[in-house]
Amino acid sequence: MTFTDAPSRLPALASRTDQLADSAVGAVLRLTDGHDVIALAAGSPAPETYCHQEFADVTTRLLSQGGLPLRYGDASGLPELRSWIAARESAGLGRPVDAGQVLLTHGSQQGLDLLCKALLDPGDVVFVDRPSYVGALQVFRLFQARVVDIPLGSDEGLDRLEAALSVEERAKIIYVVPTFANPTGATLDTAHRRRLAALAQRYGCVLVEDDPYRDLGYDTVAPRPAAAASAVRMGTFSKVLFPAARLGHLVVPPFLTDVLMKFKQAADLGNSLLMQQVVHELVQEPGFLATRLERSRHLYRKRRDALVSALAGSFEGALEFAVPHGGFFVWARLPGGADATELLAAAVEEGVSFVPGTDFYATEPDPSTLRLSFSCTRAEDIVEGVARLERAWRTLREEPRS
Ligand SMILES: Cc1ncc(COP(=O)(O)O)c(C=O)c1O
Repeated sequence: MTFTDAPSRLPALASRTDQLADSAVGAVLRLTDGHDVIALAAGSPAPETYCHQEFADVTTRLLSQGGLPLRYGDASGLPELRSWIAARESAGLGRPVDAGQVLLTHGSQQGLDLLCKALLDPGDVVFVDRPSYVGALQVFRLFQARVVDIPLGSDEGLDRLEAALSVEERAKIIYVVPTFANPTGATLDTAHRRRLAALAQRYGCVLVEDDPYRDLGYDTVAPRPAAAASAVRMGTFSKVLFPAARLGHLVVPPFLTDVLMKFKQAADLGNSLLMQQVVHELVQEPGFLATRLERSRHLYRKRRDALVSALAGSFEGALEFAVPHGGFFVWARLPGGADATELLAAAVEEGVSFVPGTDFYATEPDPSTLRLSFSCTRAEDIVEGVARLERAWRTLREEPRS
């Protein structure tokens, strides 16, 4: 036998791989690959908002001071950046947050993974909004959680959650995107935030508030977080600086700090020290973030308005959607129960993409829903994209595919 012989039997994959699903956005991107499409699918920030020059300048300056930024750092994150985040969270929450409660992660997506490692055994229950962020659903499933979806933005939904919690012995996490949510654009008001926090506390669950769009409000400022000391707060620099920073953070109650730090250490020994130092240098500069955010909000508001008015003037006025007051997304429902996955195929032929809503549901998907993103497409292209989408819808209505 030589080393190049193929093995006669492949090893079995771990049982959790049964839960691996294709990413909804990835599937759309593959479908549109090679087509010249107007992208209303990806939820990326606008490249115009990235701070290339400042990034290059700060990196050069740091490297010119010697090789220290190229060494390993602290697994929990750069202490100065953790303190900066703690101060910002304290101001937002209206109560002190200790830097020791802040853990830096590779994007907030890694924060979800670490939290699940720390909290979930197979079969534990995670309550999520309906619909919910698809990237979080993917992680919960990989940890073999039982994911229960309930619309959490109404009193009735919270009554249902309370009833479920009162009989559910394995509830561990309540997960929400409280502000300008992905995918719906909806924001939980203060009363609902407080009630969620109180329910989590009462029934011994961890409330996870994943809040990447909080600073991207276009008409209103976001309501204050519930400020519950027992909640986990997640944030990221992806949407306000650039996603390639891969720098997110968790703010956690004391019982989770040590265990999460150990999981972070085991996963990757910590984020890039250089990247953390660059980001810290950028954000601690007085006025830097505020000015960038103001410019970004202006750009996104224009794009949001373009999408909303184009949608209102098409589909014979029959498309149901809510105007988002921030974030990157419009959530819509096609008239007449049309199927958004079928529409996507016709839309790609017309030259526009979006994400069908199905994958954003943990259970019983509504096939007529879709997510349209306005963040990284110019206003004039958005208007043309909606015209193409409407043409695809008319084609589908006249010649149904099934
Ligand atoms: C609600 C939500 N959580 C987490 C993430 C992941 O962001 P990050 O780039 O920080 O990993 C996203 C990205 O789209 C998101 O919308």
